[in-house]
Amino acid sequence: MKTYFSGFRCFRCGTEAGADFSGYVCPACGGNLEVRYAWPNGRGRWWVDEERRDVFRYRALLPVSRLELASPLRVGMTPIYEAPRLGAAAGLKHLLVKDDGQNPSASFKDRAGAVALVRARETGAKVLCGASTGNAGSSMACLAASVGMPCVIFVPEKAPAAKIAQLLIFGANVLAVKGTYDDAFDLCMEVCAQRGWFNRNTGHNPFTREGKKTAAFEIYDQLGKIPDWVVVPTGDGNILAGIWKGFRDLKAAGIAPKMPKMLCAQSEASAAISVAAWKLQRAGNLKPDWKSVEIAPVAATTVADSISVDIPRDGLAAVRAVIESGGAAVAVPDAEILAAIPELARGAGVFAEPAASCAWAGLKKAAREGRVKPDETVVCMITGNGLKDVASARKVAGDPVPVEANVAAALAATEGLGG
Ligand SMILES: Cc1ncc(COP(=O)(O)O)c(C=O)c1O
Ligand SMILES: [Zn+2]
Repeated sequence: MKTYFSGFRCFRCGTEAGADFSGYVCPACGGNLEVRYAWPNGRGRWWVDEERRDVFRYRALLPVSRLELASPLRVGMTPIYEAPRLGAAAGLKHLLVKDDGQNPSASFKDRAGAVALVRARETGAKVLCGASTGNAGSSMACLAASVGMPCVIFVPEKAPAAKIAQLLIFGANVLAVKGTYDDAFDLCMEVCAQRGWFNRNTGHNPFTREGKKTAAFEIYDQLGKIPDWVVVPTGDGNILAGIWKGFRDLKAAGIAPKMPKMLCAQSEASAAISVAAWKLQRAGNLKPDWKSVEIAPVAATTVADSISVDIPRDGLAAVRAVIESGGAAVAVPDAEILAAIPELARGAGVFAEPAASCAWAGLKKAAREGRVKPDETVVCMITGNGLKDVASARKVAGDPVPVEANVAAALAATEGLGG
């Protein structure tokens, strides 16, 4: 299969660059770039390599040509489950849950990493580098280890222990920054530039969005239809923008007839993208001049560490995803994010880390407010596995029943449990 990758276009000012452009951001304004293609166009399954069961199943829609450079690990093709009991709790009749915690490093970020890794190797990079709230880094560490490539990760020192452990166990060079994710991001940008390393930073590197869009392809491939809504927990906005890009690609290439509405789910304590989207929607400004749209930074404090972001690094693309898809943004309190963890686990059998459970908490709010209707088909993205942050899960899991090590005590303690 060949690649139809044809170049780049700036999200902010529209400047274009050819496929041989080797920079990361717009040469005119510094805005984030979008990867473009020259599709052959048309229905049918030309975009699917039926032999593959990973993200490269959709290689025809990806900007990679040398698949022999890909990680041997299986990234993507994660399961999508119908979740009627969970859905009923929010009055929804057609809820599906896509469990991206089942990727090699247990988060959605492996999709970005898989495509970025091929790009890095195609361009002859010797060292991979990135800043991360934890998951993008542990994903890069995992994928780099799978092909024996050195990598350097900048993380905030307060990232959950399991994520730091993942980074170290895969052999990454880990710099624990005494500061926030935003501090780590800025440091990483400077060090990468000075050392000439491959910079995987979210938003800044246009290929991360391309990897993330594969979730849209899978949703269409797995369901055989486009859902009404896709719910995405959001920090930097790259996952939201990436999945939206995937659906736009399907439409632009003549593969799918329509697009879903994108629901951006954030914590009230880290809601920069939602606030910017609300401002435009309230003003009825649905076709703004994107050059003039500013996203005000916040001071993020949420317990959902993966979506704790002061300055969203793919904010403009994410706001466009909400507005142009006719979607919505919701922000929920941290208490609802934590409460959503056992609800998802008990209602659908899927264990989510706090950032991921924010999708379910946000969807419930959107359903309560009548924005998502009972008959609509909704896909809720679960972006990271709950074992990544056991300390948060323990806050809402309850306690085991202590019991003496004898049968009488065990029988007494199980009285009333049925059978
Ligand atoms: C589990 C999880 N969910 C959601 C997100 C949000 O993605 P983005 O920062 O691209 O909005 C992240 C990002 O780190 C994540 O790790
Ligand atoms: Zn530009």
